[in-house]
Amino acid sequence: MRDSDDIFILGIESSCDDTSAAVLHNGKILANITASQAIHEKYGGVVPELASRAHQKHIVPVVDRAMAEAGIAKNQLSAIAYTKGPGLLGSLLVGSSFAKTLAQGLSIPAIPVHHMKAHVLAHFIETDAASPKFPFLCMTVSGGHTQILKVSDPFTFEILGETLDDAAGEAFDKAAKYLNLPYPGGPVIDRLAKTGDPNAFSFTKPKVEGLNFSFSGLKTNFINLVNRERQKNHNFDKENQNDLAASLQRTIVEMLMANLTEAALQTGINDVALAGGVSANSELRNALIETGRENGWQTFIPPFEFCTDNGAMIAIAGYFDYRAEKAGSFDDSAQARWGM
Ligand code: KG4
Ligand code: ZN
Repeated sequence: MRDSDDIFILGIESSCDDTSAAVLHNGKILANITASQAIHEKYGGVVPELASRAHQKHIVPVVDRAMAEAGIAKNQLSAIAYTKGPGLLGSLLVGSSFAKTLAQGLSIPAIPVHHMKAHVLAHFIETDAASPKFPFLCMTVSGGHTQILKVSDPFTFEILGETLDDAAGEAFDKAAKYLNLPYPGGPVIDRLAKTGDPNAFSFTKPKVEGLNFSFSGLKTNFINLVNRERQKNHNFDKENQNDLAASLQRTIVEMLMANLTEAALQTGINDVALAGGVSANSELRNALIETGRENGWQTFIPPFEFCTDNGAMIAIAGYFDYRAEKAGSFDDSAQARWGM
């Protein structure tokens, strides 16, 4: 176990369409800078080739700004943590190559981090809020993943259930795209749903085994309904946007919460957390708090800035590894697919 007074970790995230760098001093964030890529909006989704080019453009200024805001010199860094995977290979290569080269130049460890584990470990970034106690349950919901995890310690994650097809974020994004709403659709649906009727439309909830999820049937169900109604009324989308958003969101949140509640029942674990981009969703956040109150759970939701992809979560994951003296090698390569 490595414990010195001052551990400074630079965390670099580049797995999808956000280039982000953060500096962590012990458990606290000194800086967390993200450059998002607006270029994908007009395509209604992330275009991998454009994403990696944008990472190349952003990585140096983003890291420079994070270091400047943190107010430390590069030679004070203890280690550099970077996202090794899973994610888009071209995007991962930009962050991982940069991190390894810089670490090598500074003769400090480069620490490869698992993106989804980092989303979970974001709960341990020191803020005013309490962190969950091990073991805890974490439902990780993002644009690429939907999982219910049992987290026994910072290095031990067991998948209790996961999506068999689309991720929850994808269901939001694809439905929004079908309504010609901007990308990413999740935050837009969330905003529209606030003034919509969640019971206006009913969508089927696909049944799958155990604690797993399936969202692709819901997406098809949504598209078919909109298609059918558009033939009767050309203005259907515009007139029903808020109700469609609210009904879809209610269905997704109910599906997520049903399995999470079952997982808590089966494991007897009462510390229950959310992670990943979709945990920014206001209805899901409220549902977790409400269900937690009914069931006597302690509930944990990361601060907003640590929900979507960010360098801070990579830095905190690297901090756990650094203290446990787990470092990677400069030969480690980015990995588009990487199991828990
Ligand atoms: O974790 P994240 O930033 O990137 C991935 O690793 O995928 O998650 C992005 C996903 C997108 O699908 C986006 O639409 C969704 O998170 N998202 C939301 C909200 N904010 C972001 N979904 C629903 N409601 C939100 N408020
Ligand atoms: Zn993510």
